[in-house]
Amino acid sequence: MTELTHPLATVPRDELVARAEADPHRPRFHFVSPAGWLNDPNGVSQWNGTYHLFYQYNPEGAFHHRIQWGHASSTDLVSWSDLPVALEPSGGPDSPDRDGCWSGVLVNDGGTPTLVYSGRHGEHELPCVAVGTPDLLSWAKAPENPVIAAPPAGVEITAYRDHCVWREGTIWRQLVGSGIRGRGGTAFLYESADLRSWGYIGPLLIGDAADRDEAASDWTGTMWECVDLFRAGPGTLGSGGGPADDVLVFSAWNDGDTRHPLYWTGQYSGDSFEPAALHRLDYGGRFFYAPQSFADESGRRIMFGWLQEGRSDAAMVEAGWSGVMSLPRVTTLAADGTLSFAPVPELEQLRSQHVHLPGRVLAGGGTPVETGVSGNQLDLELELQLAPGAVVRLGLLGSQDGVEETAVELSRGSGGQGTLRLDRTRSSLDPLVDVEQKSGPVPMSDGRVHLRILVDHSAVEIFANGKPLTARVYPTLGGESVSLTAAAGTARLLSFDAWTMGGIFGGARTLFP
Ligand code: FRU
Repeated sequence: MTELTHPLATVPRDELVARAEADPHRPRFHFVSPAGWLNDPNGVSQWNGTYHLFYQYNPEGAFHHRIQWGHASSTDLVSWSDLPVALEPSGGPDSPDRDGCWSGVLVNDGGTPTLVYSGRHGEHELPCVAVGTPDLLSWAKAPENPVIAAPPAGVEITAYRDHCVWREGTIWRQLVGSGIRGRGGTAFLYESADLRSWGYIGPLLIGDAADRDEAASDWTGTMWECVDLFRAGPGTLGSGGGPADDVLVFSAWNDGDTRHPLYWTGQYSGDSFEPAALHRLDYGGRFFYAPQSFADESGRRIMFGWLQEGRSDAAMVEAGWSGVMSLPRVTTLAADGTLSFAPVPELEQLRSQHVHLPGRVLAGGGTPVETGVSGNQLDLELELQLAPGAVVRLGLLGSQDGVEETAVELSRGSGGQGTLRLDRTRSSLDPLVDVEQKSGPVPMSDGRVHLRILVDHSAVEIFANGKPLTARVYPTLGGESVSLTAAAGTARLLSFDAWTMGGIFGGARTLFP
């Protein structure tokens, strides 16, 4: 069979890794693929103590095509070892995953590692299964694939793919993300005794794509990608639980447009999900897309998401790589019934060169505080107290001439409501990069804010009182300075700590480990 080469495969394969490594925008302590394209986290899990991260991978170049499952493992969620590709499309015109192994999950089938993923054939996807060796290194596709022959009959769907699979007693349950034309996104519920033969139950919940403006930051879209259902409150999924103890995460999609991750809190019982409230999951929208979570062996719920690029398709191809995996986030249910996020504490082992600034008053319109901190691999932790009307600005990646700077802004309205905003309008002189403003509400009833910011070259993850805002920035001047000012009102800086973060990839990496 002749290997068809994609028109975007303009960078020779043997140059991709070197190109990627030479790119100043490439993160150093976030997981990235060896080179080529990365999107969704898949099969996130802990197996016999070891963490596994699979991901949507195209080693042919930095574009989305004929997706395989890349694979890496870690003992500490900090540094990752590349492992051989776990799944790749099977040749043969009738193979259900001929055109790609799309997103899915890993489950433990009585001791056998098993993947449930979306096999792409032509323009459609169907559920497939693969069984792994005990070391999770070799995967055999089930002869029954596709294990569900078609989407539910009699419903006009927008798309149908991605999986959430869990066990309830002796049976397996599965959700497949979809959308019903003219209505909204949905997740179809199935049941099985053996992960091979599935009975359709019905839609778990159907969104209403007409209930708010399409431009809204919480529009639920016409299709739900990467649905992820879990118990956030006490107990386990499917057993009792209060009216807002369960969480249904999905990524709102519309006709090829990846919009943003959202979640419903509610109650999953029987064959349906009774929603309590809808929330934005990350204020960066598409920059934290297609999240997937798992419970680790210590019981923590850990979530990863895909940090899409904010530069042009041509720039990605030239760079030889695309897509960043988020830092793993511990996900908890806060007292107000929303999810709260924090980078896993394990990441603190990458910290060095600690700078601590004592508390002080930041007076509105005053001169910037000299932080003395600079760098493009940083972990910053601030405690702030904002008076009503106060606006605090933290400048990152600032160039010496002051031309480029990325600004994180925290404000407290006169009524006490808080807002986190990321201003990227001066982040880059490159006119082609995404500079859209990102913002969202932050609970701060008493004006107190814990702000954590992780800067890793083009990847920025911000957590304000547990509310995340993730985005990408592409400074052209190599600026590294960190500044702090009260732009309005009065705020008190209670503490400021900064560290330089080490890199996680030592030796050379290869496209096909
Ligand atoms: C989400 C997504 C999934 C799909 C995969 C393909 O980003 O579109 O719905 O399975 O990516 O790579």
